[in-house]
Amino acid sequence: MNKWSFHNPVHLHFGEGVLDDIGTLLSGRSYLLVTHRDDVMSPWRDRIAMHCGAPDLALDEIEPNPSLEMLRRLTTVMSAADIEPEVIIALGGGSVIDTAKFLAAGRGCYRAAVQYIDGGTPLPRRPLPIIAIPTTAGTGSDLTKWATVWDTVRGRKLSLEHDGLYPEATVIDPLLMASLPWSVTLSSGLDALSHALESIWNVNANPLTRRFAVNAARDIMAALQRLGRNPDDRNGRLQMALGAMRAGLAFSNTRTAVAHNISYPLTLNHDVPHGIACSFCLPEVMEAVIGIDAASDEALAEIFGVLPDAPARLRAFLNDLDVPAAAAAFGVEDSEWRMIVERAFAGPRGRNFIGAQARFPWRTGAPDDDRGQS
Ligand SMILES: [Fe+2]
Repeated sequence: MNKWSFHNPVHLHFGEGVLDDIGTLLSGRSYLLVTHRDDVMSPWRDRIAMHCGAPDLALDEIEPNPSLEMLRRLTTVMSAADIEPEVIIALGGGSVIDTAKFLAAGRGCYRAAVQYIDGGTPLPRRPLPIIAIPTTAGTGSDLTKWATVWDTVRGRKLSLEHDGLYPEATVIDPLLMASLPWSVTLSSGLDALSHALESIWNVNANPLTRRFAVNAARDIMAALQRLGRNPDDRNGRLQMALGAMRAGLAFSNTRTAVAHNISYPLTLNHDVPHGIACSFCLPEVMEAVIGIDAASDEALAEIFGVLPDAPARLRAFLNDLDVPAAAAAFGVEDSEWRMIVERAFAGPRGRNFIGAQARFPWRTGAPDDDRGQS
Protein backbone atom coordinates (compact mmCIF):
# COMPACT_ATOMS: atom_id res chain seq x y z
CA MET A 1 0.00 0.00 0.00
CA ASN A 2 1.61 3.22 -1.14
CA LYS A 3 -1.11 5.80 -0.74
CA TRP A 4 -3.41 6.21 2.21
CA SER A 5 -4.96 8.87 4.42
CA PHE A 6 -6.24 9.15 7.97
CA HIS A 7 -8.95 11.49 9.21
CA ASN A 8 -10.44 12.07 12.62
CA PRO A 9 -11.49 15.57 13.62
CA VAL A 10 -12.50 14.79 17.24
CA HIS A 11 -10.63 16.80 19.88
CA LEU A 12 -9.42 14.17 22.30
CA HIS A 13 -9.02 14.86 26.01
CA PHE A 14 -7.68 11.90 27.93
CA GLY A 15 -6.70 11.20 31.53
CA GLU A 16 -7.83 10.93 35.12
CA GLY A 17 -9.69 14.08 36.14
CA VAL A 18 -10.05 15.42 32.61
CA LEU A 19 -13.81 15.74 33.17
CA ASP A 20 -12.97 19.00 34.93
CA ASP A 21 -12.05 20.49 31.52
CA ILE A 22 -15.70 20.36 30.47
CA GLY A 23 -16.36 24.02 31.35
CA THR A 24 -13.56 25.17 29.04
CA LEU A 25 -14.79 22.89 26.28
CA LEU A 26 -18.38 24.09 26.51
CA SER A 27 -17.24 27.74 26.89
CA GLY A 28 -20.55 29.20 27.95
CA ARG A 29 -22.78 27.61 25.32
CA SER A 30 -26.20 26.29 26.25
CA TYR A 31 -26.55 22.52 26.24
CA LEU A 32 -28.82 19.52 26.28
CA LEU A 33 -27.63 16.71 28.53
CA VAL A 34 -28.22 13.11 27.40
CA THR A 35 -27.44 10.58 30.09
CA HIS A 36 -28.84 8.04 32.56
CA ARG A 37 -30.75 8.80 35.72
CA ASP A 38 -28.95 6.74 38.33
CA ASP A 39 -26.66 6.96 41.33
CA VAL A 40 -23.59 6.25 39.24
CA MET A 41 -24.12 9.21 36.91
CA SER A 42 -25.33 11.56 39.63
CA PRO A 43 -21.91 12.81 40.85
CA TRP A 44 -20.68 13.28 37.27
CA ARG A 45 -23.83 15.22 36.38
CA ASP A 46 -23.25 17.44 39.40
CA ARG A 47 -19.68 18.01 38.30
CA ILE A 48 -20.76 19.00 34.80
CA ALA A 49 -23.36 21.37 36.26
CA MET A 50 -20.70 22.86 38.54
CA HIS A 51 -18.50 23.69 35.55
CA CYS A 52 -21.15 24.45 32.95
CA GLY A 53 -24.28 25.52 34.82
CA ALA A 54 -27.56 23.65 34.51
CA PRO A 55 -28.52 22.14 31.14
CA ASP A 56 -31.45 23.53 29.15
CA LEU A 57 -32.89 20.04 29.46
CA ALA A 58 -31.71 16.61 30.62
CA LEU A 59 -32.93 13.53 28.77
CA ASP A 60 -32.02 10.75 31.15
CA GLU A 61 -34.19 7.78 30.35
CA ILE A 62 -31.96 6.20 27.72
CA GLU A 63 -32.45 2.53 27.01
CA PRO A 64 -29.76 0.17 25.73
CA ASN A 65 -29.71 -0.27 21.93
CA PRO A 66 -31.68 2.94 21.13
CA SER A 67 -34.95 2.10 19.39
CA LEU A 68 -36.92 4.37 17.06
CA GLU A 69 -39.73 4.20 19.58
CA MET A 70 -37.56 5.64 22.36
CA LEU A 71 -36.05 8.24 20.03
CA ARG A 72 -39.52 9.40 19.02
CA ARG A 73 -40.39 9.80 22.69
CA LEU A 74 -37.26 11.85 23.37
CA THR A 75 -37.84 14.19 20.43
CA THR A 76 -41.39 14.78 21.67
CA VAL A 77 -40.01 15.82 25.05
CA MET A 78 -37.51 18.13 23.32
CA SER A 79 -40.23 19.77 21.23
CA ALA A 80 -42.46 20.26 24.27
CA ALA A 81 -39.57 21.92 26.12
CA ASP A 82 -39.17 24.33 23.18
CA ILE A 83 -35.41 24.68 23.55
CA GLU A 84 -32.58 25.48 21.12
CA PRO A 85 -29.43 24.13 22.79
CA GLU A 86 -26.12 24.98 21.15
CA VAL A 87 -24.44 21.71 22.12
CA ILE A 88 -25.42 18.19 23.21
CA ILE A 89 -23.36 16.71 26.03
CA ALA A 90 -23.59 12.90 26.00
CA LEU A 91 -22.58 11.35 29.32
CA GLY A 92 -22.78 7.56 29.18
CA GLY A 93 -21.96 4.51 27.07
CA GLY A 94 -22.48 3.84 23.39
CA SER A 95 -26.28 3.88 23.58
CA VAL A 96 -26.25 7.36 25.12
CA ILE A 97 -23.78 8.70 22.55
CA ASP A 98 -25.69 7.12 19.65
CA THR A 99 -28.92 8.61 21.00
CA ALA A 100 -27.22 12.01 21.17
CA LYS A 101 -26.16 11.61 17.53
CA PHE A 102 -29.75 10.93 16.44
CA LEU A 103 -30.98 14.00 18.34
CA ALA A 104 -28.09 16.07 16.96
CA ALA A 105 -28.82 14.98 13.38
CA GLY A 106 -32.47 15.97 13.47
CA ARG A 107 -31.84 18.83 15.90
CA GLY A 108 -34.65 17.29 17.88
CA CYS A 109 -36.87 16.60 14.85
CA TYR A 110 -37.66 12.88 14.67
CA ARG A 111 -38.89 12.97 11.09
CA ALA A 112 -35.82 14.77 9.76
CA ALA A 113 -33.49 12.20 11.29
CA VAL A 114 -35.54 9.19 10.19
CA GLN A 115 -36.02 10.47 6.64
CA TYR A 116 -32.27 11.02 6.44
CA ILE A 117 -31.56 7.47 7.62
CA ASP A 118 -34.25 5.84 5.50
CA GLY A 119 -34.28 7.80 2.30
CA GLY A 120 -31.09 9.80 2.34
CA THR A 121 -33.14 13.03 2.43
CA PRO A 122 -30.56 15.71 3.31
CA LEU A 123 -30.68 17.00 6.84
CA PRO A 124 -32.30 20.45 6.94
CA ARG A 125 -29.44 21.87 9.02
CA ARG A 126 -25.98 20.81 10.12
CA PRO A 127 -26.14 18.49 13.17
CA LEU A 128 -25.74 20.03 16.59
CA PRO A 129 -22.21 19.70 17.98
CA ILE A 130 -21.72 16.90 20.50
CA ILE A 131 -19.32 16.67 23.41
CA ALA A 132 -19.02 13.00 24.32
CA ILE A 133 -18.09 11.88 27.81
CA PRO A 134 -17.90 8.08 27.62
CA THR A 135 -18.46 6.22 30.87
CA THR A 136 -17.65 2.82 29.36
CA ALA A 137 -14.48 1.85 27.52
CA GLY A 138 -15.18 0.24 24.22
CA THR A 139 -17.97 1.39 21.94
CA GLY A 140 -15.84 3.97 20.16
CA SER A 141 -18.93 6.04 19.36
CA ASP A 142 -17.15 9.05 20.83
CA LEU A 143 -14.65 8.89 17.96
CA THR A 144 -16.85 8.07 14.96
CA LYS A 145 -19.36 9.84 12.75
CA TRP A 146 -21.93 7.06 12.86
CA ALA A 147 -24.55 5.65 15.21
CA THR A 148 -26.56 2.45 15.37
CA VAL A 149 -30.29 2.65 16.07
CA TRP A 150 -32.84 -0.13 15.99
CA ASP A 151 -36.22 -0.43 14.33
CA THR A 152 -37.57 -3.09 16.65
CA VAL A 153 -41.00 -3.10 15.01
CA ARG A 154 -39.63 -4.07 11.59
CA GLY A 155 -36.63 -5.96 12.99
CA ARG A 156 -34.02 -3.72 11.37
CA LYS A 157 -30.67 -2.36 12.46
CA LEU A 158 -30.25 1.15 11.07
CA SER A 159 -27.08 3.14 10.52
CA LEU A 160 -26.96 6.88 10.91
CA GLU A 161 -23.89 8.48 9.41
CA HIS A 162 -22.90 12.08 8.70
CA ASP A 163 -19.63 14.02 8.69
CA GLY A 164 -21.23 16.45 11.13
CA LEU A 165 -21.71 13.66 13.69
CA TYR A 166 -18.09 13.31 14.71
CA PRO A 167 -18.23 14.66 18.24
CA GLU A 168 -16.65 18.08 18.55
CA ALA A 169 -14.71 16.68 21.52
CA THR A 170 -14.44 13.52 23.58
CA VAL A 171 -13.54 13.60 27.25
CA ILE A 172 -12.12 10.20 28.20
CA ASP A 173 -11.71 10.13 31.95
CA PRO A 174 -10.91 6.62 33.28
CA LEU A 175 -12.13 7.70 36.73
CA LEU A 176 -15.67 7.63 35.30
CA MET A 177 -15.19 3.95 34.49
CA ALA A 178 -13.81 2.95 37.88
CA SER A 179 -17.06 1.49 39.19
CA LEU A 180 -18.30 -0.19 36.00
CA PRO A 181 -19.78 -3.63 36.75
CA TRP A 182 -17.76 -6.52 35.38
CA SER A 183 -20.42 -7.51 32.83
CA VAL A 184 -20.29 -4.04 31.23
CA THR A 185 -16.50 -3.86 31.48
CA LEU A 186 -16.29 -7.19 29.68
CA SER A 187 -18.86 -6.51 27.01
CA SER A 188 -17.60 -3.03 26.13
CA GLY A 189 -13.98 -4.19 26.33
CA LEU A 190 -14.63 -7.05 23.92
CA ASP A 191 -16.44 -4.65 21.60
CA ALA A 192 -13.22 -2.60 21.53
CA LEU A 193 -11.15 -5.74 20.91
CA SER A 194 -13.43 -6.57 18.03
CA HIS A 195 -13.01 -3.02 16.62
CA ALA A 196 -9.23 -3.42 16.81
CA LEU A 197 -9.12 -6.82 15.08
CA GLU A 198 -11.77 -5.93 12.52
CA SER A 199 -9.75 -2.88 11.52
CA ILE A 200 -6.70 -5.10 10.93
CA TRP A 201 -8.37 -7.60 8.55
CA ASN A 202 -10.02 -4.80 6.67
CA VAL A 203 -9.82 -3.57 3.06
CA ASN A 204 -9.52 -0.03 4.44
CA ALA A 205 -6.58 -0.74 6.77
CA ASN A 206 -3.38 1.26 6.49
CA PRO A 207 -0.12 1.34 8.46
CA LEU A 208 -1.45 3.90 10.94
CA THR A 209 -4.76 2.16 11.65
CA ARG A 210 -2.89 -1.15 12.08
CA ARG A 211 -0.45 0.48 14.51
CA PHE A 212 -3.35 1.82 16.57
CA ALA A 213 -5.12 -1.54 16.34
CA VAL A 214 -2.16 -3.70 17.41
CA ASN A 215 -1.50 -1.51 20.43
CA ALA A 216 -5.22 -1.40 21.17
CA ALA A 217 -5.60 -5.18 21.16
CA ARG A 218 -2.60 -5.65 23.44
CA ASP A 219 -3.86 -3.00 25.87
CA ILE A 220 -7.40 -4.37 25.90
CA MET A 221 -6.43 -8.00 26.43
CA ALA A 222 -4.00 -7.14 29.20
CA ALA A 223 -6.49 -4.77 30.84
CA LEU A 224 -9.37 -7.26 30.74
CA GLN A 225 -7.21 -9.88 32.42
CA ARG A 226 -6.19 -7.38 35.12
CA LEU A 227 -9.72 -6.09 35.69
CA GLY A 228 -11.10 -9.64 35.76
CA ARG A 229 -8.86 -10.28 38.75
CA ASN A 230 -9.37 -6.88 40.35
CA PRO A 231 -12.02 -4.44 39.06
CA ASP A 232 -10.54 -1.70 41.26
CA ASP A 233 -7.18 -1.82 39.49
CA ARG A 234 -6.79 1.84 38.58
CA ASN A 235 -4.00 1.31 36.06
CA GLY A 236 -6.09 -1.47 34.51
CA ARG A 237 -8.92 1.04 33.94
CA LEU A 238 -6.45 3.50 32.44
CA GLN A 239 -5.04 0.84 30.12
CA MET A 240 -8.54 -0.24 29.12
CA ALA A 241 -9.56 3.34 28.29
CA LEU A 242 -6.39 3.84 26.28
CA GLY A 243 -6.91 0.59 24.38
CA ALA A 244 -10.53 1.42 23.61
CA MET A 245 -9.48 4.87 22.40
CA ARG A 246 -6.81 3.43 20.11
CA ALA A 247 -9.30 0.91 18.74
CA GLY A 248 -11.78 3.75 18.20
CA LEU A 249 -9.23 5.74 16.22
CA ALA A 250 -8.39 2.69 14.11
CA PHE A 251 -11.93 1.69 13.19
CA SER A 252 -13.12 5.28 12.80
CA ASN A 253 -11.08 5.10 9.59
CA THR A 254 -11.51 1.48 8.50
CA ARG A 255 -15.02 0.68 9.80
CA THR A 256 -15.74 -2.80 11.09
CA ALA A 257 -15.93 -6.09 9.18
CA VAL A 258 -17.67 -9.43 9.15
CA ALA A 259 -17.79 -10.14 12.90
CA HIS A 260 -19.88 -7.01 13.40
CA ASN A 261 -22.25 -8.08 10.65
CA ILE A 262 -22.59 -11.44 12.37
CA SER A 263 -23.39 -9.68 15.64
CA TYR A 264 -26.46 -7.67 14.62
CA PRO A 265 -29.04 -10.48 14.29
CA LEU A 266 -27.74 -11.98 17.52
CA THR A 267 -28.42 -8.71 19.33
CA LEU A 268 -31.73 -8.08 17.58
CA ASN A 269 -33.20 -11.58 17.81
CA HIS A 270 -31.39 -13.20 20.74
CA ASP A 271 -30.64 -10.23 23.03
CA VAL A 272 -26.91 -10.92 23.04
CA PRO A 273 -25.02 -7.82 24.28
CA HIS A 274 -23.22 -6.17 21.37
CA GLY A 275 -19.71 -6.68 22.72
CA ILE A 276 -20.27 -10.41 23.22
CA ALA A 277 -22.10 -10.82 19.92
CA CYS A 278 -19.26 -9.27 17.91
CA SER A 279 -16.41 -11.03 19.72
CA PHE A 280 -17.31 -14.67 20.45
CA CYS A 281 -16.62 -15.71 16.83
CA LEU A 282 -13.41 -13.67 16.35
CA PRO A 283 -11.20 -16.80 16.46
CA GLU A 284 -13.20 -18.35 13.59
CA VAL A 285 -13.08 -15.11 11.62
CA MET A 286 -9.32 -15.02 12.20
CA GLU A 287 -8.99 -18.55 10.82
CA ALA A 288 -10.59 -17.27 7.62
CA VAL A 289 -7.97 -14.56 7.14
CA ILE A 290 -4.60 -15.89 8.25
CA GLY A 291 -2.24 -16.33 5.31
CA ILE A 292 -4.16 -14.02 2.99
CA ASP A 293 -2.44 -10.68 3.53
CA ALA A 294 1.13 -10.10 4.75
CA ALA A 295 0.40 -6.85 6.61
CA SER A 296 -2.60 -8.37 8.39
CA ASP A 297 -0.59 -11.48 9.30
CA GLU A 298 2.21 -9.34 10.67
CA ALA A 299 -0.18 -7.35 12.83
CA LEU A 300 -1.89 -10.49 14.17
CA ALA A 301 1.49 -12.07 14.91
CA GLU A 302 2.46 -8.99 16.90
CA ILE A 303 -0.62 -9.49 19.07
CA PHE A 304 -0.84 -13.27 19.36
CA GLY A 305 2.65 -14.59 18.59
CA VAL A 306 3.13 -17.54 16.22
CA LEU A 307 0.38 -17.27 13.62
CA PRO A 308 -0.95 -20.82 13.38
CA ASP A 309 -1.58 -20.69 17.14
CA ALA A 310 -3.24 -17.26 17.08
CA PRO A 311 -6.92 -18.36 16.81
CA ALA A 312 -6.44 -20.93 19.59
CA ARG A 313 -4.78 -18.31 21.79
CA LEU A 314 -7.65 -15.90 21.24
CA ARG A 315 -10.13 -18.71 21.96
CA ALA A 316 -8.32 -19.52 25.20
CA PHE A 317 -8.41 -15.84 26.18
CA LEU A 318 -12.17 -15.69 25.53
CA ASN A 319 -12.72 -19.00 27.37
CA ASP A 320 -10.96 -17.62 30.42
CA LEU A 321 -13.47 -14.75 30.35
CA ASP A 322 -16.37 -17.24 30.10
CA VAL A 323 -17.36 -16.04 26.63
CA PRO A 324 -19.25 -18.83 24.81
CA ALA A 325 -17.38 -20.41 21.93
CA ALA A 326 -20.36 -20.96 19.65
CA ALA A 327 -23.68 -19.41 18.69
CA ALA A 328 -25.59 -22.41 20.06
CA ALA A 329 -24.98 -20.96 23.53
CA PHE A 330 -27.28 -18.06 22.58
CA GLY A 331 -30.06 -20.34 21.36
CA VAL A 332 -29.11 -20.09 17.69
CA GLU A 333 -29.99 -23.16 15.65
CA ASP A 334 -27.58 -24.61 13.16
CA SER A 335 -29.54 -23.43 10.11
CA GLU A 336 -29.95 -19.92 11.51
CA TRP A 337 -26.24 -19.66 12.23
CA ARG A 338 -25.45 -20.66 8.67
CA MET A 339 -27.80 -17.99 7.33
CA ILE A 340 -26.42 -15.32 9.68
CA VAL A 341 -22.83 -15.99 8.61
CA GLU A 342 -23.65 -16.17 4.91
CA ARG A 343 -25.54 -12.88 5.05
CA ALA A 344 -22.78 -11.32 7.12
CA PHE A 345 -20.16 -12.13 4.49
CA ALA A 346 -22.39 -10.75 1.74
CA GLY A 347 -23.22 -7.50 3.58
CA PRO A 348 -21.30 -4.22 3.42
CA ARG A 349 -19.13 -4.92 6.48
CA GLY A 350 -18.56 -8.44 5.24
CA ARG A 351 -17.14 -6.95 2.08
CA ASN A 352 -14.67 -4.97 4.24
CA PHE A 353 -13.23 -8.31 5.34
CA ILE A 354 -10.11 -9.38 3.46
CA GLY A 355 -10.46 -13.05 4.42
CA ALA A 356 -12.23 -15.86 2.60
CA GLN A 357 -15.65 -17.21 3.49
CA ALA A 358 -14.54 -20.60 2.21
CA ARG A 359 -12.09 -20.81 5.10
CA PHE A 360 -14.64 -20.02 7.80
CA PRO A 361 -14.83 -23.08 10.06
CA TRP A 362 -18.53 -23.70 10.58
CA ARG A 363 -18.47 -24.66 14.23
CA THR A 364 -21.91 -24.44 15.68
CA GLY A 365 -21.71 -25.64 19.22
CA ALA A 366 -21.43 -29.39 19.41
CA PRO A 367 -17.99 -30.12 20.88
CA ASP A 368 -16.75 -32.15 17.90
CA ASP A 369 -18.52 -30.11 15.28
CA ASP A 370 -16.04 -29.09 12.60
CA ARG A 371 -17.61 -30.06 9.34
CA GLY A 372 -15.87 -27.61 7.09
CA GLN A 373 -17.56 -25.47 4.51
CA SER A 374 -20.29 -27.09 2.52
FE1 LIG B 1 -18.91 -2.53 17.96
